[in-house]
Amino acid sequence: MDNTILVTGGAGFIGSNFILQWIAEKRTPVVNLDKLTYAGNPRNLERVCLNPLYSFQQGDICDRDLVRGLLERRRPQAIVHFAAESHVDRSIRGPDDFIRTNVNGTFSLLEETRAYWTQLPDQDRERFRFLHVSTDEVYGSLGPDDARFSENTAYAPNSPYSASKAASDHLVRAYHHTYRLPTLTTNCSNNYGPYQFPEKLIPLMILNARSGKPLPVYGDGLNVRDWLYVEDHCEAVRGVLHRGRPGETYNIGGWNEKPNIEIVETICSILDEICKDDPLVPHRNLITFVKDRPGHDRRYAMDARKTERELGWKPRETFESGIRKTVQWYLENDAWVKEVTAGNYRHWIATHYS
Ligand code: NAD
Ligand code: TYD
Repeated sequence: MDNTILVTGGAGFIGSNFILQWIAEKRTPVVNLDKLTYAGNPRNLERVCLNPLYSFQQGDICDRDLVRGLLERRRPQAIVHFAAESHVDRSIRGPDDFIRTNVNGTFSLLEETRAYWTQLPDQDRERFRFLHVSTDEVYGSLGPDDARFSENTAYAPNSPYSASKAASDHLVRAYHHTYRLPTLTTNCSNNYGPYQFPEKLIPLMILNARSGKPLPVYGDGLNVRDWLYVEDHCEAVRGVLHRGRPGETYNIGGWNEKPNIEIVETICSILDEICKDDPLVPHRNLITFVKDRPGHDRRYAMDARKTERELGWKPRETFESGIRKTVQWYLENDAWVKEVTAGNYRHWIATHYS
């Protein structure tokens, strides 16, 4: 076993940011196993695709033969598991893929990991880690005055997405409890930043506003999310991987609760400032309140004190600096935007917002 790590879902939003950061900072080999669904984009990793530390394997985490072969060949010292179906609205329209990848896929990966880990020499078995990346949505919805989610908050998932992630978290927990597999689980709040697929709130609003399309705000726009810049999330995951205690879960958040309408208005003001002479100024005229998402969770908020205390981690980016960087990134990366908004994406937007 050398110092290679296996990342699943590394061509997606957070996974690709994680790999870029890992190669820049850690300089040890990374194998990326990704099925390349609509959300996976090898272009996200253009900066490292010729780097000898990076290798890519297209494949499904549900394919046990493929996973087994990869583990035997590459002998990783850790697995960082990002691969998932991740969009709540898609889970409401068609939950099958969420159960398949998030539940069955995580189960397959755990089984193959257990077989691989069991036959490692003692020292390597001790050192090995399986890090499962999860979400704050497993905890359900908070009222305006409720305390933030802690690692001890009872699970109460409300969407097919969050239920599938909760199921996978439980499997990971059970593999530690039953087999002593050295697992770590991170539950993080909403991420934003470069390479996020524009079906999610922030990139959708930036791109719609830029091209003069309506900005569809669900319900009254007062649902609250706790936003974290993606690179801060990736740094926290690295911290948990190195210093986290096996069997533990770690909440990660930005202490940055904001109602959706405020996010959309902030994006509009930044665009007004950057594109002063655009006839679309003020962009906030594009805001359109639309029918609410069924079962829409009202508020998420993370208590990240355990992670901060045990790992010495803190978010570096404020929301103000992070959102500015993000808007700028989407304006400057036209080729990427054009590629991901072709084909399948148009179909999703046309059906979902019709
Ligand atoms: P994403 O949808 O952008 O990317 C998911 C990646 O997984 C894609 O590259 C896709 O091709 C790959 N994938 C999907 N099914 C696969 C399969 N069966 N086998 C192999 N690869 C497969 O997701 P994201 O936003 O980067 O989220 C990554 C992880 O972080 C997910 O587990 C998600 O639940 C979790 N998370 C996301 C957020 C957020 O705000 N985006 C917040 C907290 C936690
Ligand atoms: P999203 O980015 O889908 O993340 P999640 O549902 O996992 O938190 O949505 C963030 C918030 O923005 C959520 O409260 C739903 C809302 N939203 C809209 O109001 N309009 C939209 O078009 C989208 C995609 C989301």
